[in-house]
Amino acid sequence: MKGKYYPEPFKIKMVEPIKILTEEERLKKIEEAHYNLFYLDSEDVYIDLLSDSGTGAMSTEQWAGMMKGDEAYSGSKNYKKLVSTAQNIFGYNYIQPVHQGRAAEKVVMPIFLGPGKYAISNMHFDTTRAHVELAGARAIDCVVAEALDTETYSPFKGNMDTKKLVELIEEYGAENIGLIIMTVTNNSAGGQPVSMENIKETSEIAKKYNIPLMIDAARFAENAYFIKTREKGYEDKSIREIVLEMFSYAQLFTMSSKKDAIVNIGGLIGIKDDEELYEKVKANTIPLEGFVSYGGLAGRDMEALAIGLEEGIDYNYLKYRIGQMEYLASRLDEANIPYQYPVGGHAVFIDAKKLLPHIPYYEFPGQALAIELYKEAGIRTCDIGSFMLGNDPDTGKQLESPFEFTRLAIPRRVYTQSHLDLVADALIAIKERAESIKGYRITWEPKILRHFTAKLKPIE
Ligand code: F0G
Repeated sequence: MKGKYYPEPFKIKMVEPIKILTEEERLKKIEEAHYNLFYLDSEDVYIDLLSDSGTGAMSTEQWAGMMKGDEAYSGSKNYKKLVSTAQNIFGYNYIQPVHQGRAAEKVVMPIFLGPGKYAISNMHFDTTRAHVELAGARAIDCVVAEALDTETYSPFKGNMDTKKLVELIEEYGAENIGLIIMTVTNNSAGGQPVSMENIKETSEIAKKYNIPLMIDAARFAENAYFIKTREKGYEDKSIREIVLEMFSYAQLFTMSSKKDAIVNIGGLIGIKDDEELYEKVKANTIPLEGFVSYGGLAGRDMEALAIGLEEGIDYNYLKYRIGQMEYLASRLDEANIPYQYPVGGHAVFIDAKKLLPHIPYYEFPGQALAIELYKEAGIRTCDIGSFMLGNDPDTGKQLESPFEFTRLAIPRRVYTQSHLDLVADALIAIKERAESIKGYRITWEPKILRHFTAKLKPIE
């Protein structure tokens, strides 16, 4: 049954026109883009669900804050506000701004990882994996088995498989595991949440083996909302209380603030209490990102980020936000379109493996569906599957992803119910002709993070 749409807790003050190209124009554009949606110009896209990162709409308060930028090289007042806001929300002593999430990874990873070392995560996001590898180490994913079954309900499909985690630590040796990384929500598994119980249990294992636990905090607020609405004992706790508890179990976090903090650029590193670690982070930040009190951001960016952190943990906003995913998912339920169920926090992940079962992983079903959505209605999405995963860094062979998703990432506070209806209608039309959709092969690819720039051709 079609779900209720929870109304926007805001009204619209400024609009940005969008338009749809003709079908003929779209077919030409996608061919010119080498069948890689990252090559499309944004003005050739009607509804842009490529990412929920940096694509949110800022509030009146945030825009007003932008005018209060203190652009001093050192000791800007926006920096001070950002640090105290983040200290308050996360309960950590040390906060280092950086320009985005991967910058935080670039600063932090080499401190913990090097050749011969491993990072174990419930699932590494692609840039996180890349920075583990760039530091010379190897990344191991350790998500619960429930995540692999996209049809069956499980409240916390993002969880770490703690039994397997212990086995991996024993197998590789605790001294070789540089970091345990808890990604909240678990983006690559479908924006799936991690339970408080699982964070706590993982932290106990990490402590026992003396391995630092780091949170990849990009979607921390959405994760907290799921804990509040799904985990026993948290229904009466505020999002703020839940966030504080989540972070109390880790030693540090990296964060892309372009997601739940609703800014177009920004990132953070948080360190609970290890002053020596903070010194190392500062020493890496200065040459890589900029001086400690701006870390690659303008004063105005830090002001918007400080305000966005607060807006992002507002319960009403989160209810509307997750409500959008639930509404879109309910439209797909009506048409029997398979997706990672229950729907996640920032996106609907269509199960392209199930929708296009005739396309093998090495012909990229997730990417094939993404291309089809553009052809159908000018909708831009992305593959979260074998196309994104890439090749084994040691053998160069195509890896098989456990999932073949096409991700419909919903920007924050940007699209309305009728936009979501249009997306659902496009998917329903594609499902009708699913059997005729063909796979793709790569004609050119770079070594690392290939999905951003690889070129493809349809298989005839
Ligand atoms: N960690 C997670 C879980 C992410 O989803 C991302 C980015 C990053 C780290 C890196 O942050 O982009 O600010 O450098 N995810 C975006 C996405 C790009 O579309 O899912 P960044």
